[in-house]
Amino acid sequence: MQNGRTTITQFIIEEQRHIQGATGDFTSLLNDVVTACKVISNMVNHGALVGVLGAAGTENVQGEDQKKLDVISNDVFLQSNEWAGHLAAMASEEMEDIYHIPSQYPKGKYLLTFDPLDGSSNIDVNVSVGTIFSILRCKGDCQNPTADDFLQPGTEQVCAGYALYGPSSMMVLTTGNGVNGFTLDQNIGEFVLTHPDMTIPTETREFAINASNGRFWEAPVKRYVDECLQGDTGSRDNDFNMRWIASMVAEVHRILTRGGIFMYPIDEKMKSKGLQGKLRLMYEANPMSFIVEQAGGMSSTGRERIMEIAPSELHQRVPVILGSKTEVERVVAYHKEHDTDAAA
Ligand code: AHG
Ligand code: MN
Ligand code: MN
Repeated sequence: MQNGRTTITQFIIEEQRHIQGATGDFTSLLNDVVTACKVISNMVNHGALVGVLGAAGTENVQGEDQKKLDVISNDVFLQSNEWAGHLAAMASEEMEDIYHIPSQYPKGKYLLTFDPLDGSSNIDVNVSVGTIFSILRCKGDCQNPTADDFLQPGTEQVCAGYALYGPSSMMVLTTGNGVNGFTLDQNIGEFVLTHPDMTIPTETREFAINASNGRFWEAPVKRYVDECLQGDTGSRDNDFNMRWIASMVAEVHRILTRGGIFMYPIDEKMKSKGLQGKLRLMYEANPMSFIVEQAGGMSSTGRERIMEIAPSELHQRVPVILGSKTEVERVVAYHKEHDTDAAA
C-alpha cells in the first residue's frame, strides 16, 4: 500500500492468493513484464533527450521499417524476462523466430508474446504509443519449445495487458477476472491502481477506422461507416464522432474509458497482396480481444470471434473489429447479411 493506494505488485500478489496451487511463478513473471514497461516508459518520456527517436534503418519480419525504439523496446523485453526461469520461450512482432531462453538460465512453464512498441509511427511526433503482451502456458516440451507451442487460440491466454505511454503512463491488465488499470507514479516508480474494474459502455456514438482505406473496404464495413457518417439524417438517427490515433493501444484505451468501436478490417488491397488483415493475431488482436471481452465488450473479425481462431502461424494477421458490444454486433450482422446474400 502507498498512502492507502494499491500498487500493481500488491494487486498481483493478492490476486495470486485466490488461485489454488499458485506457486508465485506467474506473479514474478508479471513483475518482470511490469519492469520492462517501466523502462520503456522512461525512454519514451525522455525521447530526443536520450537519442531514441528516429528510424533504426532496418526492417522487421513483416517488412515494416523499424524505429530505434521498436528495436530497443524489444531488447528491453527480452532482457527483463529471459533470466528469471518462468518462461519456456518468447515471441515478438519484431523477431522472425521465437526467442529461446539462453542456456545459462532455467526455463519455466509460460510463453510470452509481445508487441514491444505499438503505434511506433507516432513516436517521432510525440503521440501516444504502447506495449501489448500476452501470456500462455507452454503445453508441450517446455525445455525445447517450438513456434507450434505458441499456436494456441486466444481463449487459452492466462493474462493479457498493455502499457500506454501517454500523458501519463498506464498499465491495463486482465487475468480473466475483469480488467484493472494502473497509473505510473513517477515519484515512487510504481504503477498504482487507479481504474479498478474497467468496463466498456455498451452504447456508443464514436468509431475509429483509417478512412484512407475506404475505397478498398468490403461492403459491410462501407455500409456501417456510411450509416455513421449520415448521422441523424440517416438510419442511425444519431450523429457519430470519429477518431483515429494509429496506436491500437491508445484506441483500445479510449474505448475502455468511454466506449466506441475500433476497426481494422480486411480490405481488397490487403487481399490482393495475400494478407488476411493488418494487425497481428498473437501480439495485438488476441491480447486486446481478451481485455475487451473481460471489460464487457466484443471482438470479432466480422465473421468469427477472434479469440476462437486456431492460429496457423506466429505472425498471422487478422481483421479486427472490437469495442462496445451493440456496435460490434451490428457490424457482425452486416457481414452475415452480406455473406448470405452473396452465397444466394
Ligand atoms: P505497430 O506500430 O506495432 O506496427 O502497430 C501499428 C498498428 C496499430 O497500432 C494501429 O492501429 C495501426 O497499425 C495503424 O495503422 P495505419 O498506419 O494503417 O493507420
Ligand atoms: Mn502494433
Ligand atoms: Mn509494434
